[in-house]
Amino acid sequence: MARPQSRYVCQACGTSHLRWEGQCRGCGAWDTLVETLVRPEPARTVRRTAAPGDPARPRPLAALASVDVERRPTGLGEVDRVLGGGLVPGSVVLLGGEPGIGKSTLVLEVAAGLVRPRSLAAANGASGGTVLYASGEESAGQVRLRAARLGLLEGHAGGAVSVLAETDVERIVEAARQAAPGLLVVDSIQAVSHEGLEGPAGSVGQVREAAARLAEFARATGTPVLIVGHVTKDGSLAGPKTLEHLVDVVLALEGDRYGPLRLLRASKNRFGSTEEVGVFEMAGSGLAEVTDPARAFLTEGSAAAAGSVVAATLEGSRPLLVEVQALVAQAGAGTPRRTVAGLDPNRLALLIAVLGRRAGMAIAGHDIYASLVGGVSVAEPALDLPLALALASSHRDRAVATGTVACGEVGLLGELRPVGGLERRLREAARLGFGRAIVPAGPAKGRPPSVDGLEVVAVGTLREALAAGLGS
Ligand code: TYD
Ligand code: MG
Repeated sequence: MARPQSRYVCQACGTSHLRWEGQCRGCGAWDTLVETLVRPEPARTVRRTAAPGDPARPRPLAALASVDVERRPTGLGEVDRVLGGGLVPGSVVLLGGEPGIGKSTLVLEVAAGLVRPRSLAAANGASGGTVLYASGEESAGQVRLRAARLGLLEGHAGGAVSVLAETDVERIVEAARQAAPGLLVVDSIQAVSHEGLEGPAGSVGQVREAAARLAEFARATGTPVLIVGHVTKDGSLAGPKTLEHLVDVVLALEGDRYGPLRLLRASKNRFGSTEEVGVFEMAGSGLAEVTDPARAFLTEGSAAAAGSVVAATLEGSRPLLVEVQALVAQAGAGTPRRTVAGLDPNRLALLIAVLGRRAGMAIAGHDIYASLVGGVSVAEPALDLPLALALASSHRDRAVATGTVACGEVGLLGELRPVGGLERRLREAARLGFGRAIVPAGPAKGRPPSVDGLEVVAVGTLREALAAGLGS
């Protein structure tokens, strides 16, 4: 066998160097190279399940056999919604999120949901089968504690979900090969390592190798694999980007750790849309699905308060009403503070500038705080108008009337631009009892949709919107 060789792998971008250097040549990061021993391995072939016929010969598109992607519902509606219907056999799903956000809880619930016999499937003799949960982070006892808390010990999951406390990826794959489960869970990828590689578990080389091994297992056996990965503070998955191309689906669980709400989004999905979001609430007995989240991100029974505006946003096909809060305060000495949570700081900066130049509201010298209620983050342009209204409302210390929602993109000239799915947003607002909506008039001054019980105020400019929302 060849002598082990040493490489210096950048922990930020994965570039491998022959010798140690202070700065990575790949990405320019400083002090990120870690020595990693590489034992040359026999070349590996990744086999994909081939369609009937000779896959090596090109054939016209129209002549290709159509493949129906088979999906196994996890039994958790919100997860299935984000996955696009369920887990696809042989696929690899990466679930990322900050430590403590609830990833282990969610995967355990997915495991339990998958093995729960569904009357219809059971009638067809196709029960969910079993799940192998490989835990590299927690002992089997700790996993049992969590399962007990989730009330899963007595149920079907108590027998059908097996736990393996193991950190060696080869042994995990071997165990999975023998058990042939319906799903393999690996919690977390940062805790497992490959014997053939030196360098600590969690380093880029290890993470990448372990994930590649698991992906190969998934493809060779048709077993779906669910990998948990911790996200570093700056929001990238450790072993950043190096995992994303290896897996079929990248999910992120986000939210405010200290609040109850969690959002599940797909940032990549080979088998479905990346637009859908799943909403959960962390309770004493695990993550509960929030099937009607429209109200979840509003403060209960909120009286009109200066600085608060309800935005009608759209997440995929799902309208979400979110409360935007802003505080504009006299600045002390030095650079004014800007603090945002859940909002795009660049949009905030732009709106401050537009408010100053186009609406005569000079707040650039003030301290400004802006956030979304419930720890969500929304990157939609339709959030511009509600945020601008909230800023103006706080600055003038005048509340927008209760029962008002707003949405619309703000342009640099202070003009309002239309947003997609306006009618859907407005219907949802009406359903939740809102009585008035401030929306962009649109370029052709076409009539905004009329919705029963909702007074729709169409405005062309930010100035008009402020007059409609706050009075002149
Ligand atoms: P966990 O799933 O361990 O997070 P992760 O795997 O992402 O690090 O759960 C994190 C937090 O959730 C933990 O601090 C306790 C809380 N929690 C509940 O509030 N209710 C529950 O039923 C469970 C299992 C956890
Ligand atoms: Mg965990």
